[in-house]
Amino acid sequence: MRTPMVVANWKMHGRLAEARELAQAVRDGLKRPRGVEVAICPPFTALAAVAEVLAGSPLMLGAQNCHWEESGAFTGEVSPAMLAELGCRLVVLGHSERRHISRETDEEISRKVAAALRHRLQPVLCVGETAEERRQGLTFTVVEGQLRAGLAGLPAEDLVRCTIAYEPVWAIGTGLTATPSQAAEVHGYLRGLLSELGSKESAQAVRILYGGSVKPDNAGLFSQEPEIDGALVGGASLQAASFITIAKKSAAKSGASKE
Ligand code: 13P
Repeated sequence: MRTPMVVANWKMHGRLAEARELAQAVRDGLKRPRGVEVAICPPFTALAAVAEVLAGSPLMLGAQNCHWEESGAFTGEVSPAMLAELGCRLVVLGHSERRHISRETDEEISRKVAAALRHRLQPVLCVGETAEERRQGLTFTVVEGQLRAGLAGLPAEDLVRCTIAYEPVWAIGTGLTATPSQAAEVHGYLRGLLSELGSKESAQAVRILYGGSVKPDNAGLFSQEPEIDGALVGGASLQAASFITIAKKSAAKSGASKE
């Protein structure tokens, strides 16, 4: 029912020549990905160039953020309509770097999720606890708050158009990962909440990705967990060979989907 998905989040990396080169190498290494969907999210400035590189390939283009309005006096912002026009199919929203560095609130993130859906962009809603919150036993409380707030007000039929990414903040860029079973526990909890927000069937259709120091040598372990439907990859997506390996290791065995 759920085909795994692997998303490259390049963050603020990739000037034009590098972005083209990296996208070409990933495209050439994943000509016909089997049992996995693959997306690349470059910085805004490289979206058009990467769109050209990916034209005609099964790899999807995504963005790392968007505003909730269509247009207007919002200096420095980019609207979902602008992203859709460039060929973006998805948009990462509520990433912890935006929550913590840019002080994005749950309310803003929820407006962005709704706006993305209005423009047929698949939101990849990120949730995750800090090290301190985990230490205090607040992991489930934090991710529940972020999930409920991020999806607030969405009609049940829109839930299935969203992807969730569980990214524990302490695992991002640190080389520390949640163990596959720690991640699976949170994914299971999130799926339970999705059932409450929509239905059991819709919750089963929503992909929940894991992110946080996913590398070629641990990707296979995560993909063995039935509750983990792929990866949101930061640092390791900047090397074509690493990202290609992660995508291949995240593929459902024999091209089958996860139930
Ligand atoms: P790293 O893979 O570099 O830990 O980053 C994860 C992340 O933030 C992806 O969105």
